[in-house]
Amino acid sequence: EKGTYPYYMLKEIDEQPAVLRKLLLKYQNEANQLTIDQKIVDSILESDRVYIVAAGTSYHAGLVGKELIEKMTHIPTEVHVSSEFGYNTPILSEKPFFIFLSQSGETADSRQVLVKTNALGYPSLTITNVPGSTLSRESTFTLLLHAGPEIAVASTKAYTAQIAVLAIFSEVVGIQKGLIKHGVMLRDIGIAANAIQSIVDDKESIEELASEYLSTSRNAFYIGRGMDYHVALEAALKLKEVSYIQTEGFAAGELKHGTIALIEEQTPVIALITEKSVAGHTRGNLQETKARGAHTLAISMEGLNRPEDQIVIPHVNPLLSSLAIVIPTQLLAYYCSLHRGNDVDKPRNLAKSVTVE
Ligand code: M6R
Repeated sequence: EKGTYPYYMLKEIDEQPAVLRKLLLKYQNEANQLTIDQKIVDSILESDRVYIVAAGTSYHAGLVGKELIEKMTHIPTEVHVSSEFGYNTPILSEKPFFIFLSQSGETADSRQVLVKTNALGYPSLTITNVPGSTLSRESTFTLLLHAGPEIAVASTKAYTAQIAVLAIFSEVVGIQKGLIKHGVMLRDIGIAANAIQSIVDDKESIEELASEYLSTSRNAFYIGRGMDYHVALEAALKLKEVSYIQTEGFAAGELKHGTIALIEEQTPVIALITEKSVAGHTRGNLQETKARGAHTLAISMEGLNRPEDQIVIPHVNPLLSSLAIVIPTQLLAYYCSLHRGNDVDKPRNLAKSVTVE
């Protein structure tokens, strides 16, 4: 039920701190340590490469997941769009382990890949919000998102829940491999939940920025580097699907290799800045667009912020920065859609789950 909320999308954005806290409870053992089914850990420890397969927002969560898995477990990881996998099949390693990310667990493109990997006898893990869904039933293992029903077509809380589950999964595997001595995810996902809470509590300021930056624009850009680039792709998908503004997510450094030609007077360019090592470069790229007339907006993380930044999010573990920095972009998309009079929860031409290939 929507309760007092005008739209499910806003309700689901607001629920994210609670979703993360619930996840931490669900994945905790009696000794208050994060844990997952040992059979999953054993299976992944036997494998030599992880293949993440997903579509849309789940694919974008997979891009973040790759960073988490590689950094914490040192297992090489590839991320693939499910609709391409069948035709553009990568050369598989000797012992692949497949992870299917799907909020609904019903996405036909992803299922088609699972049918193939099952036929080849490879182990698979589905990370989904829906127990008993097709992908969950047909894969070897399942981890649940425990996010509660996601009704809005635009996925929000499933994205953050997927990243949190992947972080928990990576830490548990990293500990068992002896790569991590002291787990921090229990604490740091909790800190991220608090950060999200403070961002949603201040949503009026983001609503104002949505009016100021996005009310009349026909196109827009999100830019970032590293983890922030992955979030830029998700931010762009969210904005375009609910506002119908043509939006591109771009690697900040790649913009000048062609796409900067699209920048005109007042084109909104939004930079995501949470990574210390590349913050200066991203700011430089934002400046380049400003010099060509762009209406620039910077969303940065405390510690890296500058006085001119329009949105500053609280500091979180940089491995989990996506959990926090995505929230203002979800809110910008929501308010932009609302102000344009669109059907926020049911954007045109879209269905909640895509069950045809
Ligand atoms: O249920 P799934 O996670 O498999 O769905 C994948 C995509 O169809 C989905 O994320 C879609 O891109 C959303 N509309 C994004 O907001």
